[in-house]
Amino acid sequence: MPDEWYFNTAFYKINDTSSFIISHLCRSEIINMKPATKYIHAGASPDPSTGAIMTPIYQTSTYVQEAPAVNKGYEYARSQNPTRKALEDAYAIIENGKYALAFSSGVAATDAVIKLLQPGDEVICGNDMYGGTYRLFTKIFEKFGIKFIYVDTSHAENIKNAVTANTKLIWIETPTNPLMNITDIEAVAAISKPKKILLAVDNTFASPALQNPLDMGADIIMHSATKYLGGHSDVIQGALMINDKDLREKLYFIQKSCGAVPGPMDCFLVLRGIKTLGLRMKAHSENGAKIAHWLKAHPKVGKVYWPGFTDHPGYAIAKKQMKDFGGMISFELKNDSVEEAKRVLSSTHLFSLAESLGGVESLINHPATMTHASIPREERIKNGLTDSLIRLSVGIEDADDLIEDLKKAIG
Ligand SMILES: Cc1ncc(COP(=O)(O)O)c(C=O)c1O
Repeated sequence: MPDEWYFNTAFYKINDTSSFIISHLCRSEIINMKPATKYIHAGASPDPSTGAIMTPIYQTSTYVQEAPAVNKGYEYARSQNPTRKALEDAYAIIENGKYALAFSSGVAATDAVIKLLQPGDEVICGNDMYGGTYRLFTKIFEKFGIKFIYVDTSHAENIKNAVTANTKLIWIETPTNPLMNITDIEAVAAISKPKKILLAVDNTFASPALQNPLDMGADIIMHSATKYLGGHSDVIQGALMINDKDLREKLYFIQKSCGAVPGPMDCFLVLRGIKTLGLRMKAHSENGAKIAHWLKAHPKVGKVYWPGFTDHPGYAIAKKQMKDFGGMISFELKNDSVEEAKRVLSSTHLFSLAESLGGVESLINHPATMTHASIPREERIKNGLTDSLIRLSVGIEDADDLIEDLKKAIG
């Protein structure tokens, strides 16, 4: 691929026979702008054929070629699609990266990263992570000879001690799902870089509005774009953001060879979602802070997991590497029984009982039986994920209404 394909959103327009070329912001201008501007304009440029301000949904499987191998940069939609291209440009820009790839789900994006490895390679990863990532590692990739070593990554020392000559990848989630543990990305990059070990960060919980791991030395960012990037609970999608061109080429090869690409309609929805990312994350964080403090003061509530508390073990690191603390909160009840947790989970009206997170509407979830059911109970309990733990994805409704709902449900 020529370089301009990555860096010029309008590559296909330059090669267009149409004379209708509209001037628009180019990547080099947008990358120097403030986040709020990036969210609105990243990847977006008027459609060359009509001037449509919104990126069209290019619902096509293939592209007509003038002669064999003479085309406009698009050959077949598993390999390239203009709507996906616009989104991938946006993804790169909002994470301060050079390149990005969009996948059909967050798990598909993680799958592509692990496919960079060979049998015998070792991955150091967190002992508290999204259950689906754990399932992918243990049930799919272990049988191909890839070894996963689970440590508490909130102490970088644990990672350092687990490194061997076979370590090829460090996979961290920060904040973690669901216990909101924090890992110091810069400290881990200081361990991975000299040894040429890839560092991948699942940045789903923070979103690019609150944390930018490439700036802190990560090699790959993974997002479940299903969550805050989409923001409206209407799409499943994943993303990888990268700075290194060779790494981008390897991941692109995996993407087109394995085929886990998102459809253009889904790309359009995420492009639209990103436009309000900054506003939404501000509202999620404000509501999250109010609800976390309210829960902490409630007589029936036990431990509350939220990195914005000054007594959270990762508070200092979260304050250093995050712009705010987001809208994800987990908590236990003083009556630590599954029955009581289930009663609360079934009693809310505004908080909907559902898997997923990051949408504008508030969700309540029971990790032990829902999002993290694929982790064996013994493993879960050992790592602090109790049977009665409740996870909230605080939406952007009025915080008073949300608190009223929780007040009635907790009793
Ligand atoms: C932190 C985290 N990473 C990855 C994923 C997987 O993403 P997807 O559901 O889009 O495949 C999820 C899904 O809940 C998640 O919460």
